[in-house]
Order: sequence, then structure tokens, then C-alpha cells
Amino acid sequence: MSSPSREQWNSSLGFILAAAGSAIGLGNIWRFPYITGQNGGGSFVLLYLIIVFTIGLPVMYLELSTGRFTQRGPVGAMEKLAPGSFWKIIGYLAVITGIGILSYYSVVAGWTIWYFIKAIFQGFGGENTGTAFSQFVASAPHQLVLLGVFLGLTTGIVISGIKGGIEKISMILMPVLFLLMIGLIIYALTLDNAAAGLKYYLIPKTSDFTKTTFIFALGQAFFSLSLGMGAMLTYGSYLSKKENLVKAGFLVVLFDTLIAIMAGLIIFPVIGGAPEKAGAGLVFVVITELFCTLPGGRILGALFFLLLTIAALTSTISLLEVAASWLMDEYKMVRKKAALIVSGITFVIAIPSALSLGASKSLSSIIKIGGEEKGFLGIMDFLFGNLSLAIGGLLIIIFVVFKWKLKNAEDELYHNADRFRFLSLIMKPLIWFAAPAAIMVVLGFMLFTGKTLS
Ligand code: TRP
Repeated sequence: MSSPSREQWNSSLGFILAAAGSAIGLGNIWRFPYITGQNGGGSFVLLYLIIVFTIGLPVMYLELSTGRFTQRGPVGAMEKLAPGSFWKIIGYLAVITGIGILSYYSVVAGWTIWYFIKAIFQGFGGENTGTAFSQFVASAPHQLVLLGVFLGLTTGIVISGIKGGIEKISMILMPVLFLLMIGLIIYALTLDNAAAGLKYYLIPKTSDFTKTTFIFALGQAFFSLSLGMGAMLTYGSYLSKKENLVKAGFLVVLFDTLIAIMAGLIIFPVIGGAPEKAGAGLVFVVITELFCTLPGGRILGALFFLLLTIAALTSTISLLEVAASWLMDEYKMVRKKAALIVSGITFVIAIPSALSLGASKSLSSIIKIGGEEKGFLGIMDFLFGNLSLAIGGLLIIIFVVFKWKLKNAEDELYHNADRFRFLSLIMKPLIWFAAPAAIMVVLGFMLFTGKTLS
């Protein structure tokens, strides 16, 4: 039985904005443009869009239905639907993946705080933005302090509770971010190289596909939509029965994808073609260049990085929430203790990532994945932000199809949304065949041909 005291969203708009807040974050604005740049531009974008709507959306629906039906986080949900069985592993994998992502994500989020401070006190003019970035990420004290500040903020918000914290922040600020990005796109499109940049970004060329394009597109879709580790499942568990899951899930996917595409519409016109070297610094370097030339760029830059910090916060909240709600549900811990334990562990795990962009030479360049030299942060991102999520997504599909039964998930999904039942015609084959087949092909490819990674 669900306990009567379980917290719930105040309104369906609150849920949509908070779930969109989880989805929209560094994944859209930092990760999407540079992964697109590493994978050849237009063809990657096309593949990404196809994956979002044929694999991402169905998995989104399965997570939301499982969460709302069980009123639990991932571990509790498995325990409830398959008591005492090995399916619980899905829940544990979710908790571990969440902590893994949260660790390096908080390092990058720390950069957004720094750029906000920098815009206010110094501005971006008068220096080479690329060099400034490299020097900044190579400074151990900066990286560690900013990491601590950002994780502290996340923890504070999670402790303050679901309604008070998450809902209010997302509700006000996401629309502001949206408007600011529209303005930046308009400005970027007036630049000299805009047409060449758009051509690279939006026009697919089959020659761009490489062996790793598919895994990166799949991983990016899951990462950006917050899927494959029970974050959406947990958010769904705070939803009341009267909400329309079909509509809410679709809107979240739509907003998230829109923001990612918009981020590319800012970055690529500024670059004006294929980026010479697309790495973790791409957005920070390119966007500060944009703010250098833009009238009022310093104020707008400060606003942009502030909003990006907050967008990152509404994402990390959901990462921390999964692990914390597990401790709360299973071990009856109070929210404060649970959140502090998880964030303490996360901080320790995050240290090598924080030092892996120059501060420590041996952590900065470890192996090559997809033709790119990866340091510790890059490896964490690949393992947790791509691989684990794909595995988690596949396991959730397998769980629903073989254990809980798709029929039950569908009853939950279409509850109070009867007029959308026709969607079943498309969703069923996607969930039964297309999505699992695609994920398995990608995973199989990676596991059995080591070469695909280099
Ligand atoms: N989706 C977020 C982003 O794009 C990151 C994120 C939050 C996430 N929660 C998640 C990714 C859960 C995977 C799983 O920035």
C-alpha cells in the first residue's frame, strides 16, 4: 500500500515543469552540441531525433507508469511488483548510475557557477576564451571548491522537500531560460558564418556516420531525457492518479528536445562549420566568445550562466533524489540524513573527475573512445552517462514486458487518458521489438567489438 503521507506534486503543470527541469540541463546545452560536433553534425542530429521519439518516448512512458503505479522509487518499485526477486538489481543499478552521473555532472555544473561569477566581476573580453577555459579547468582548488559549492546547493534543495524546492524553482526559471536562448539564436543567426554553421548542423550527410555514432546518439537521448536510471520513475511516483501521463510525458520529451536543438542553433552559427576540436569545453569557449561581441554581453552572459546553473540544479536534484528516496523508503531514514549521506559519497567519487581536466596529468588522458582522448571525467560520462543508461533502459523494458506485463503498464499509462489508447498501436511494437532490438544491437556491438571504441 502507498503510505498516505507520501508527498505529491501540487499540480500537473508543477510536475511537467519539474520533470522538464530534470531533463533540461547540461545534457542539452553543454553535452548535446559537443557530442554533435564530435559525431559529424546533421546526420547525428537526425539520428538523435529518431531515437528520441522511437526509443526515448516509449521508455519515458514505461518509467512514468511504473513510478505512478507503485508510488515508489526504482528499488521499491521492483520490490513491490516482483517481491524478493533478482529484478531489484534494476533498482540498485539505478541508484549507482545516479551517483555516478551526479559526480562528474556536478564538476561541470561548478564551471557554470564560475562563469557566472566571472561575467559579473570581470567580463569575458580581453583574453583568449579557449586558453582561459583550459587554465581554469586545470586549477585543482577552483575545481574542488566549485564542486563542493554545487553539490552543497543540490543537497540543500533536496533536503527542503519535493514541493517547496523543486517545483517552485522550475516553474519560474525554465521559461526565462527559453526566452534568453531565443534571443541568443536570433543574434547568432546574424553572424557572418551563420549559414555555414547551420549547414553543418542541420543537413545530414551519410559520410558522417561512424561506428560510434549510434551509441552516442542513444546515450545522449537517454541522458538528456533523464531515462534509464529511474529518475523519471521516481518523479512519476509523486504524480497523482488524475494526471494524464500520456500528455505529461510527451510534453517533457518535446521541451527537452527543443532546448537541445536550440542550443545547437546558438553554438554552430558562431563556429561557422565543423568545430576543429569539439570537447567538454566547446560550449563554454564558444558562448563566451559570443558574449564578447554581443552588446550588453556581460549582463546577458551573467544571466545565461546563472540560468544554466539553475537548469543544472533542477537536474542534479533528480539524480540525488533517486538515491536519497531509496534510503528513505527502504531504511526509513529522514530526508536530511539520506541526502547528506548520498552527497558525501558523491563528493568523494567526484574528486578524480574534478582533477581530470589538467590538474592531474595522469587522470587527464586515459583511453581513446570514439577517436577522442578521454580522461577520468570522460570515462565516467561514457560508463554511466551512456552505457549504464542504455542497459538500464533495456532492463526496464524487459521488466515491464516479461514480469509486470505491458498490459498493466498500459492501463496505468492510459488511466484518465482514454482517448490516447490508439497510441498503443505504435507503442506496442516499439516496446516489444524496435526499442529493445536497437539497444541490444548497440550494446552487443560495443561489447563484442572492442575496436568500435577507438
Ligand atoms: N537530463 C539531465 C540533463 O540533460 C541530466 C540528468 C538528470 C539525468 N537526471 C538524470 C541523466 C537521470 C540521466 C538520468 O542535463
